[in-house]
Amino acid sequence: MENTRQQIINLLEEANEQYISGQQISNCLQISRTAVWKHIKELEKDGYKIEAVAKKGYKILEAPNKLSANTIQWGLHTNWLGKHVIHKTSIPSTQTLAQKLAFEGADHGTVVIADEQTAGKGRLNRAWFSPNQGIWMSIILRPSFLPLQASQLTLLTATILAKSVEEVTGLTPSIKWPNDLLIQDRKVAGILTEMQSEHDHIQYLIIGIGMNVNQNEKDFPEELHSKATSIQIESGKEWDMRIIIQAVLQHFEKQYDHYLQKGFSTVKEIWEEYGYKIGEVVTLRTTQEEKQVTLIGLQEDGSLLIEDSGTRHPLYSGEIIW
Ligand code: BTN
Repeated sequence: MENTRQQIINLLEEANEQYISGQQISNCLQISRTAVWKHIKELEKDGYKIEAVAKKGYKILEAPNKLSANTIQWGLHTNWLGKHVIHKTSIPSTQTLAQKLAFEGADHGTVVIADEQTAGKGRLNRAWFSPNQGIWMSIILRPSFLPLQASQLTLLTATILAKSVEEVTGLTPSIKWPNDLLIQDRKVAGILTEMQSEHDHIQYLIIGIGMNVNQNEKDFPEELHSKATSIQIESGKEWDMRIIIQAVLQHFEKQYDHYLQKGFSTVKEIWEEYGYKIGEVVTLRTTQEEKQVTLIGLQEDGSLLIEDSGTRHPLYSGEIIW
């Protein structure tokens, strides 16, 4: 059912604003015209505005302003990313479902997305606040590179989020190492990368993306007020989340393929363009201590180059206090 409906959307979309007749759809998909009509009715229930004109056929006028596998895929221009989208209205964590699906064999490029997470997971075992009005999604990847490259992929994802937010909203986020997106010094998005690997082989990798989009100040709990923000708070207007999701997925596919072909150097350059407080003195917290260091830039392996009491060295773990 789901597949046929998606195929109908694809046909209507490919028709490029032209009408496509029930007969054409029925011929292409090898289903009866009555079945086509039933699917069209289902799409309308899903919120699509479809024009039906006698002797001409059907045309999509508008996709609904709500998330579903269909609405995310409608107008999504990718070759392999998001060909399978699993959308849930409420779920404990997209990350956990994505892991289960990946374990069961889900394809490279499968996207799991939810309107709300009731047990969202952040880095370092922190909880991730994920009410309605944000983008909570996990991407399943099956890369053929080595497990140690996974951290480069997280940095790549941070650049993709920064570019997508900038392109769609005009806001320029900065990336706080390793992968927090900040606007005006408050966190707007985070990335959680988890991996299942064996020896030198990655079985699957899950990139979890959390982005605060349409929340107001009052939607955040008190303790997050000074630390978290949303795109709506920063831009003063509400956003169609599908547009941001599609931008992220399109940039992701392009930049991921480019990274596989050309390596990390372009990612490093873009990351440093958005890098938070690069060249400045910041407080760094490691497991042992808190100290003042200067942030120099990224190294090829994804570590952060810092200068500490006149000596430069790479940092693999730790947190910049902001
Ligand atoms: C961070 O701590 O900055 C990372 C936050 C990652 C949150 C996302 S939301 C989608 C996916 N599902 C989860 O439970 N977590 C990630």
